[in-house]
Amino acid sequence: VQKPLLVPVAHTRRARYPGKHPRRFDEKYKELDPVHYTTEVQKILASGKTPAGSHRPVMLEEVLRCLQPAAGEIVVDCTLGGGGHAEAILAHLRPGGRLIGLDVDPIELPRTEARLRAAGFGPDTFVARRSNFSSLPKILASDALSVVNVVLADLGVSSMQIDNPARGFTYKAPGPLDMRMNPSSGKPASQLITSIREEALAALLAENADEPHAGLIANLLKRQPVETTHATERVVRMGLAEALPELKPADIKMSVRRTFQALRIAVNNEFSTLDELLRTLPHCLAPGGRVAILTFHSGEDRRVKKAFLAGHRAGMFSEVAKEVIRSTKEETFSNRRASAAKLRWAVRSR
Ligand SMILES: C[S@@+](CC[C@H](N)C(=O)[O-])C[C@H]1O[C@@H](n2cnc3c(N)ncnc32)[C@H](O)[C@@H]1O
Repeated sequence: VQKPLLVPVAHTRRARYPGKHPRRFDEKYKELDPVHYTTEVQKILASGKTPAGSHRPVMLEEVLRCLQPAAGEIVVDCTLGGGGHAEAILAHLRPGGRLIGLDVDPIELPRTEARLRAAGFGPDTFVARRSNFSSLPKILASDALSVVNVVLADLGVSSMQIDNPARGFTYKAPGPLDMRMNPSSGKPASQLITSIREEALAALLAENADEPHAGLIANLLKRQPVETTHATERVVRMGLAEALPELKPADIKMSVRRTFQALRIAVNNEFSTLDELLRTLPHCLAPGGRVAILTFHSGEDRRVKKAFLAGHRAGMFSEVAKEVIRSTKEETFSNRRASAAKLRWAVRSR
């Protein structure tokens, strides 16, 4: 059983909620305060669930095996999130090494920075930067670096972001249809839907999530403005059931999931930022440097695979993963997020 991420929070009075168990995110006061409720949080982890407000690093052992971080090396974690991978990597970098952790999320980044500081990593070994990994060369230059030994990217959103209904990533809880990893930049998903044409929305749903009913869903979403996660889910679910009565509830659920995924990818420009990272990556690695990328859907994995193979053919990478690496059965049981994960690695030529 993995250790929960111990994020120090102010100890407050028990939240009031109807029934025996808390259901809403903000009612799960024990899960949100693992420092004071260690036993309860361990029980949740042992049952194969992730406590609200925390993120469990995916394929940690496999990532460490690919990256082999060593004392004195410089590492960039492009997607710091809750800092689970970063913390494990940092333990290998002493003495003399340093990890630069990037994240675009202004809400979670300070919490993770505080947690890693509390875990004993001072500014000489760990630096947190609110930056987009698409500007990796610029970020390195601002640290007087041109190359690093190790790069990690664990793509997508963290459990903290998904769990928090105010961020609007999930239809499982009511919230504004926002989905921005950085809420101070760009447009929320609700505005994206109103501002683009129906055909463009359909293309986005097909391209970002291979949604087979993209045209119909785009039409449903354009008929009336959707402001909340629940309204969006209802419009797609009921509209599909009415227009295509032969669809099974499970198929409809998948379409709702794909709709949310496609919108999130569009709102955060996830494909273009990944393409930019992949373009500059080989130039940011020192000879013999290692990179590992964890992806969570085919649109991401295709890009990583293609870029690594092209880098190998061009002689930039001496070795690349021949096969994608998947999580173990045990991990998939204990962390559902791991089931979709695909890990690829590459080594910079000497
Ligand atoms: C899956 S989580 C990473 C979890 C982390 N590895 C851990 O162990 O806790 C992905 C994180 O990357 C961030 N992120 C996504 N795209 C980004 C980008 N283009 N630049 C910087 N951060 C990004 C998200 O805000 C999120 O916090």
